[in-house]
Amino acid sequence: MNQLNVLALIGGISKNSLNKRLYAEVVKHNTTSLSFQTFDIASLPFFSQDIENNPPENVVNFQNLVQKADAVLLITPEYNRSFPGVLKNAIDWCSRPPGKNLWKRKPAALMGASPGKIGTFGAQQHLKNVCCFLDMALMNQPEFYLEASSSMDENGLLAGSVGFLQKYLTAFEEWIVSE
Ligand SMILES: Cc1cc2nc3c(=O)[nH]c(=O)nc-3n(C[C@H](O)[C@H](O)[C@H](O)COP(=O)(O)O)c2cc1C
Repeated sequence: MNQLNVLALIGGISKNSLNKRLYAEVVKHNTTSLSFQTFDIASLPFFSQDIENNPPENVVNFQNLVQKADAVLLITPEYNRSFPGVLKNAIDWCSRPPGKNLWKRKPAALMGASPGKIGTFGAQQHLKNVCCFLDMALMNQPEFYLEASSSMDENGLLAGSVGFLQKYLTAFEEWIVSE
């Protein structure tokens, strides 16, 4: 199978972010033809209509990456039962101006890790609404919610979760090819 380029956007921006660690596990355990790269969404300015028609170079670079990617993987923490503003800001930048929605029919999948029992279920529910509105080709199944306190340690994912991660990535690969 040809290599498929996946842009991973990570909503956790702290140095020791759980979700950055989850992304590292994705790269480490990937057995598919998916090739991952990421972009530091914390480097984007706040979206403003004042600059949307002439955005800074960093935004243009980001928009080009989204446009060229075969698919996107959104990896989100849960903030107050939703997803963090930094991720919404990145999504907004590629949704405008009208008629230039770069997310349209873009194959996409969601993942997330939180220490709590619901493992970002609330965050992903809100994120799904936005993805559907923007007409992303969102993989609905399988779902990936990681309760990190029982599934990860300082060395990464515990053995019991690695198999599921690999099945998830294989399903995503099949989804991208089918789209
Ligand atoms: C502002 C804020 C709100 C949070 N709200 C939730 C929440 O609703 N549910 C949850 O499970 N964890 C919540 N947490 C805990 C985060 O899941 C935890 O800090 C996690 O490590 C954040 O992901 P990150 O490490 O990738 O940045 C919240 C944390 C912050 C800072």
